[in-house]
Amino acid sequence: MTTYENHTAMDLHMPITLRLATADDLPKLEWYGQYRHFRNLFRRTFREQQLGRRLMLIADANTFPIGHIFIQIERDSKQSRTRHAYFYSFRVMEMFRGRGIGTSLLFEAENRALEYGLTRATIAAAKMNAGARRLYERQGYQIYGEDDGAWSYVDHRGRICHIDEPCWLLEKYLTMR
Ligand SMILES: CC(C)(COP(=O)(O)OP(=O)(O)OC[C@H]1O[C@@H](n2cnc3c(N)ncnc32)[C@H](O)[C@@H]1OP(=O)(O)O)[C@@H](O)C(=O)NCCC(=O)NCCS
Repeated sequence: MTTYENHTAMDLHMPITLRLATADDLPKLEWYGQYRHFRNLFRRTFREQQLGRRLMLIADANTFPIGHIFIQIERDSKQSRTRHAYFYSFRVMEMFRGRGIGTSLLFEAENRALEYGLTRATIAAAKMNAGARRLYERQGYQIYGEDDGAWSYVDHRGRICHIDEPCWLLEKYLTMR
């Protein structure tokens, strides 16, 4: 075996840290163009984090955000004084999936919600997305409703883009652990 053949495979051990996003993460969250269309959404969410209204939880590998989940603090209803945590924009880079990073992000999002005194968390799973629903149900989330999943955003070129993605709404009551 030549020296070259000896080096065609190696194990990569990489620590993953869960932390809040910083301004440096904003361009990196576009994942080299894959999510360029969400540039304005990322910027707006970051401003909301600075105002204490949302959190952008990041899975960091070597200073790169390879996964994230965002947390919005919402009133239970328009009239209600009670609030809950709504988790959204949950994704892990394809090459890092199936290794527990998504589950860890969800678990840490719940911890952050509890730190805010919130004891109920909700999340939406597209009806087509059986894998995400399986993950949420495994973590104790239960379906409590459904939604037409209609929303829109302004992309990096200033165009309004509409999404229609019917989804299940799931909830979980959080307890200190
Ligand atoms: C949903 C998503 C965020 C999950 O992230 P992930 O890092 O793959 O999640 P996990 O690794 O914790 O769990 C995924 C699977 O890997 C398994 N797994 C977890 N740790 C593992 C490990 N160490 N070794 C092998 N498998 C493992 C889990 O049991 C789970 O199995 P399942 O698919 O049979 O349910 C990811 O699939 C994703 O980004 N999807 C595209 C975007 C999306 O759909 N987001 C959700 C919007 S509703």
